[in-house]
Amino acid sequence: MYTEILGTGSALPKQRITNDELAVLVDTSDEWITSRTGISERWISAGESTSDLAAEAAANALADAGVEPADIDLVISATVSPDNFTPTVSCEVQKALGLSQATCFDLWAGCTGFIFSLMTADSLLKSGFFSRALVIGAEVLSKLVDWEDRATCVLFGDGAGAAVLGRSSEPGLLSHVSGSDGSRGEVLTIGGVPLMNPWSPERAGTAGQGSLNHDQSVICMNGQEVFKFAVRAMESSIRRATELSDLSLHDISYIIPHQANNRIIQSVAGRMEMPREKFFTNLDHRGNTSSASIPMALDEMNRAGLLLPGMHLALVGFGGGLTWGASIVRWTRQS
Ligand code: ACO
Repeated sequence: MYTEILGTGSALPKQRITNDELAVLVDTSDEWITSRTGISERWISAGESTSDLAAEAAANALADAGVEPADIDLVISATVSPDNFTPTVSCEVQKALGLSQATCFDLWAGCTGFIFSLMTADSLLKSGFFSRALVIGAEVLSKLVDWEDRATCVLFGDGAGAAVLGRSSEPGLLSHVSGSDGSRGEVLTIGGVPLMNPWSPERAGTAGQGSLNHDQSVICMNGQEVFKFAVRAMESSIRRATELSDLSLHDISYIIPHQANNRIIQSVAGRMEMPREKFFTNLDHRGNTSSASIPMALDEMNRAGLLLPGMHLALVGFGGGLTWGASIVRWTRQS
């Protein structure tokens, strides 16, 4: 049994924030941010929730696919910034769009969340459990950013992207690779809520909470370690996923990487001796939107008419956990 991508969608909050606007908040400059990261502007929630953005992206993907809400039987949303612990973003999307036949759950895998969700949905479709899936990546990272930390607050943005997956008569989703290394999780963290029950020990706030402290519920990162990890993880994931599809790197028309940083992408292109133009980027006007970045980039390419039937795409992500992964997609849609 084969599966394919039937349509894509995305959504942004209404508020655009430029580098110059950030330079009013913290000691930074447009020159520093663009030269170190490639980011010029990002979209920041002015009230939109993660579920609002997820539902809008999902509705756009359904319209693009020409699929009715009642035909979706699986929804997986990747996020690290849900509105609630429960109900999940996926269940909120179900409510907003009337996806009455769907089983809905969220998947939490840092910025690799969309790749892991795609792999999970693909497997569940191929196993015959489900027939039509909505796979979403949605984030409002701006609520997890320390807006006084210039090293991180310039990097992130909010948004959502989605894809509709269905069973097909020809191959679409060809292969996936994935990996994790929990032993290096401390290089990129967002703390959780502290243990605060009536019987918790004196130092409530650190007890029952794993390795992080209560005051670390913002994005904390060792940028240089993440940089080195990202370059290696992306290269090995693209190479392995391409091999598993019985393709060579020459067969890949576009690489759609997690949109973290232009210098990471340039470095991967250089190491792999691949033309930089094969790596699609939109981070200059989106920033790093974690698990939303790959589906938002895919949707931008789809709507720009860049994707032609028979093209091979390598979607590749890396993120907190640490986690990484890649999917090879053969595009089957007519533009
Ligand atoms: N504006 C001006 N100066 C800054 C800023 C800023 N926004 N941020 C840091 N600096 C300063 C630092 O304070 C430091 O100053 P000092 O030398 O006086 O101490 C100097 O710039 C250099 O700081 P570094 O952290 O060494 O800067 P670096 O060149 O490593 O760039 C960056 C930082 C862009 C984060 C880089 O490490 C990087 O690209 N890392 C990859 C990580 C990444 O992109 N993560 C994205 C999130 S993770 C994910 O998506 C999975």
